[in-house]
Amino acid sequence: MMKLAPSILSADFSKLLAEIQEIESYGANWLHVDVMDGHFVPNMTIGPVVVESLRPKTRSTLDCHLMVNEPGKMIPWFIRAGADVITIHLESVSDPLPLIEMIQKSGKKAGLSIKPKTPVDSLIPYLSKIDLVLIMSVEPGFGGQGFMADSLNKTKWLAAEKKKNGYSYLIEIDGGINATTAMAARAAGVEVFVAGSAIFGAKDRSKAYQELEAAIR
Ligand code: DX5
Ligand code: ZN
Repeated sequence: MMKLAPSILSADFSKLLAEIQEIESYGANWLHVDVMDGHFVPNMTIGPVVVESLRPKTRSTLDCHLMVNEPGKMIPWFIRAGADVITIHLESVSDPLPLIEMIQKSGKKAGLSIKPKTPVDSLIPYLSKIDLVLIMSVEPGFGGQGFMADSLNKTKWLAAEKKKNGYSYLIEIDGGINATTAMAARAAGVEVFVAGSAIFGAKDRSKAYQELEAAIR
């Protein structure tokens, strides 16, 4: 299953629903929602109220990426708001397991993410439990940064572990994805491709979307 997950961080927030509906008209059915608290990362973005108001307006999978300190406090808010996937950062907690369980018990998918400097083997204890691994290919905080090609060593390793052990997690990549980097990521085992500026920042969004789709097929 290859999925393109447009990141609404790069949308025009003054007309968010129209932006989402435009992207959905090109075929999008996963939306990546970047949640930033101004502490874990030096930026602030979307909270649960936005997810809650979007929920009745879209059938797309709401893929919420929590770049926050104390995600445990916020997970129940996003569950209630109607998130489908809730991904937390390994760096933000001492033990992610109780939070992964909290997410999964509510019927949602649980993801675990690591920043570029965090080694991929730090995920080992959780690989059998999680539904998704999100590899950051930029320092989290802002859209529009350059792709860090090193991240593909992590996705390759994750793909090999998944195959070897029969794990079920999806491998997602986030940051600097365009048609060129998506193709490289596809070859390195990535299954879910987050793209913000490459879609919302494009002059011809429809064309940009189709080019990305073609790159991951
Ligand atoms: C960065 C966010 C990304 C961001 C990606 O911290 O997690 O999801 O929106 O934006 P692009 O695709 O522009 O790098
Ligand atoms: Zn993200």
